[in-house]
Amino acid sequence: MDKPTSTLNKLPSETVLQHNRRYIPGGISSVNRSIDPAITFVRGEGAYLWDNEGKRYIDYHAGFAPYFLGHNFAPINQAAAAALTSGDSLFGAGPSIAEGRLAELICENVPAAEKITFLNTGSEATSLAIRIGRAITGRQHIIVMQGGYNGNHDELAVNVFNTLAEIGPRVSPGEYPIKPLGAGTTVMHNRFTHAVNYNDLESVRYICRRFPIAALITEPLLQNIGVVGKVKAKPGYLEGLRDLADEFGFLLVFDEVKTGFRHALGGYSQVCGVKPDLVVYGKAVANGFPLAAVAGKAEYLDSIIDPDPSRRPFVAGTYNGHPVAVAAAIETVRYLTANKDTLYPRMEAMGAAMEAGINDIFARRDITACVTRQGSAFSFYLMEKQPSDLHDIIEGHDFARDLALRRALIQRGVFFVPIATKQCSLSAAHTDADVDFTLEQFESAVATVW
Ligand SMILES: Cc1ncc(COP(=O)(O)O)c(C=O)c1O
Repeated sequence: MDKPTSTLNKLPSETVLQHNRRYIPGGISSVNRSIDPAITFVRGEGAYLWDNEGKRYIDYHAGFAPYFLGHNFAPINQAAAAALTSGDSLFGAGPSIAEGRLAELICENVPAAEKITFLNTGSEATSLAIRIGRAITGRQHIIVMQGGYNGNHDELAVNVFNTLAEIGPRVSPGEYPIKPLGAGTTVMHNRFTHAVNYNDLESVRYICRRFPIAALITEPLLQNIGVVGKVKAKPGYLEGLRDLADEFGFLLVFDEVKTGFRHALGGYSQVCGVKPDLVVYGKAVANGFPLAAVAGKAEYLDSIIDPDPSRRPFVAGTYNGHPVAVAAAIETVRYLTANKDTLYPRMEAMGAAMEAGINDIFARRDITACVTRQGSAFSFYLMEKQPSDLHDIIEGHDFARDLALRRALIQRGVFFVPIATKQCSLSAAHTDADVDFTLEQFESAVATVW
């Protein structure tokens, strides 16, 4: 079809996809956005999305979770717009006043951040964190979590979407074979990346005894894009990782791309009280604008300026500290700081209401299910007990019904992204009435699926 792009926002989503497919492989620039049904959204406002046929949805996807304060939150848009008209630009030389303000704001308010440096995407930031770990320790090997997602680069985009057929029975203590997320990655990386189950300290110890480990990277709560959804740390697990890092001399890296700023101003490391060596932020730090960061202990961040080039990890990026994204992040962090005493408790209360409501619907219908939740982020699992790792989920969860339920919700104007087990995210823009409406639709959707 040859219509100019401007008229496409009046056409069915399938037509838009067909148009895009002529120019973009698959019609979408990120494989993670490729969903069924392939809805084309044209507007986001607060807790709501509208598709190109005018239908409104209550959104629980939040663009893969950045929109903690809701879509197009006016104070943040205004800050970004002000940066665009202020004469600030991407000078490509010298320090920027704004990046210094943002760094100060975060380091003054986030316990894990003694120093910080800014990048654009979570993947760039996790990549840098690993690089710092290697530069500091002079070692090559890293540990990742089975089912964890920490970015799109070769060494971390592994072991996310495994099936039971691929990974076989539970391995503990031990490691899983490395399975890259896609083709074209260097197989060499597989030698240096070791995948263990989340919540399994013995396997971390097992790997440390066999390989010189530079860094272990994990979300403090597995909340990633993979099939894991949202899995909680067992008591003592994160403290155990801290102890193992100290015992074996590797850097403990918390990937707080999803948990950072969402569960507390200081992210989940503040909630759990375990201090990582490095921490990675993205998503909610700029409420939807492209900004990410590596923060952590000053001695490790300062390796970036080590006078000895052989010990200095390379960091550069044309857009690092881009004025528009930085302005959005300053306003986001400023807003969160000013409102933290009311905002986080309110998100907890709304999340608890959602959790109780969903549990109640399942219980009244005798459906075997459980909800996992941290504050504003939740997932439901169609299995008896709360999962503690990927193995529990792929062995126990009813993926087909999960997907069918999400699609039934979408038909009813509630957007739970149609990827089984995927995290749902409340934003500060959601209201109690939104939660009530969602639960009504949930009940009706459940009735069609069971
Ligand atoms: C936990 C986690 N780490 C890293 C990333 C990568 O971030 P980005 O997509 O901005 O590169 C993601 C993205 O979903 C994520 O969920």
